[in-house]
Amino acid sequence: MKILITGGAGFIGSHLVRLFVNKYPNYTIVNLDKLTYAGNLANLTDIENKPNYSFVKGDIVDATFINKLFADHQFNAVIHLAAESHVDRSITNPLEFVYTNVIGTVNLLNAAKELHKADPSKFTKFYHVSTDEVYGSLGDTGLFTETTAYDPHSPYSASKASSDHFVRAYHDTYKLPCVISNCSNNYGPFHFPEKLIPLCINNIKNNKPLPIYGKGENIRDWLFVEDHARAIDVIFHTAALGSTYNIGGHNEWTNIDVIRLLCDMMDEKLGRPKGTNQQLITYVTDRAGHDLRYAIDSSKLQNDLGWKPSLQFEEGLSKTVDWYLQNEEWLTNVTSGAYANYYEKQYSH
Ligand code: NAD
Ligand code: TYD
Repeated sequence: MKILITGGAGFIGSHLVRLFVNKYPNYTIVNLDKLTYAGNLANLTDIENKPNYSFVKGDIVDATFINKLFADHQFNAVIHLAAESHVDRSITNPLEFVYTNVIGTVNLLNAAKELHKADPSKFTKFYHVSTDEVYGSLGDTGLFTETTAYDPHSPYSASKASSDHFVRAYHDTYKLPCVISNCSNNYGPFHFPEKLIPLCINNIKNNKPLPIYGKGENIRDWLFVEDHARAIDVIFHTAALGSTYNIGGHNEWTNIDVIRLLCDMMDEKLGRPKGTNQQLITYVTDRAGHDLRYAIDSSKLQNDLGWKPSLQFEEGLSKTVDWYLQNEEWLTNVTSGAYANYYEKQYSH
């Protein structure tokens, strides 16, 4: 089986590529990534020379390029993760999110449709990786299920909701074999330090302020990234075509509690007196349209397909902090922008 994974140089994509390349030596994995600011091939150094892995630099918005890539490779399946993924960036530049998340997804669907039309027995799956943010914001109670109505509030979640609708439309209209999953907030190694947890780890390390939007009372449902990759593996191999699965850790935390826990954990790990890091907490202007609460009901995935999260949050967060403290070079390269040269060094001749 030859699988195209898009966005494989990003945070979640790199964990998924690593899992598939190592676990399925008989699969050929092609990683397509534009290498935006969020894509970093240094996330994949441990598997880059494996015989069942190759990397292609390219833009999913470029339909001509995508059509040729599919014609050349004759993929059997696609797992689509490439996206603009940061809500704050979507507020300042929404159109970029429409190009990549909506038009890029439709370009991939069109190319997949052609392969499927040519031989339905050979092109067998289009797996679209999406987010719980499409469901909007919860009040104090309730959980997002697979049948919760879409109600996106940010340009990011609106673009992801749109791409989900296109995937379902291609399944229903063209009988393209599609599957979708909607996952809650991920955390773990290789997370770009513009997102809450890695940003605060980096700032604590450097004694810089920890910016908490509003009152810090917004709630997110955190899942360790390797658990998300395992869920994608299970869904990819066993979910019925046309189905949707929610993925989440049943692990709700207010932002301020996450950051307090992180501060205390890092006081200990860095040998600072208890309470030192919490002094860095700084309340700043709230994000526009800031969703109050996300919480996922993943019982369909747990009951139907037997997946469950493997780590408690404290354990996963501690592993994550250790990884950032042990991988100073990765963090320095990412914050300085030096990682952009990695592709040139590694792949250009
Ligand atoms: P990320 O921003 O870390 O990585 C995205 C990757 O896509 C990068 O490597 C980037 O270079 C690539 N990319 C962007 N535009 C591209 C384009 N036009 N053509 C080709 N490649 C392009 O994102 P992530 O956090 O790893 O998220 C991956 C997917 O999972 C996204 O679809 C996101 O919506 C979804 N998701 C993320 C989370 C989360 O908590 N991070 C939760 C649920 C779902
Ligand atoms: P983020 O990591 O951007 O993920 P998402 O917006 O996709 O949930 O943000 C997680 C939460 O943390 C969200 O409620 C916004 C908040 N936040 C801050 O309070 N300060 C920050 O500097 C950032 C980046 C996020």
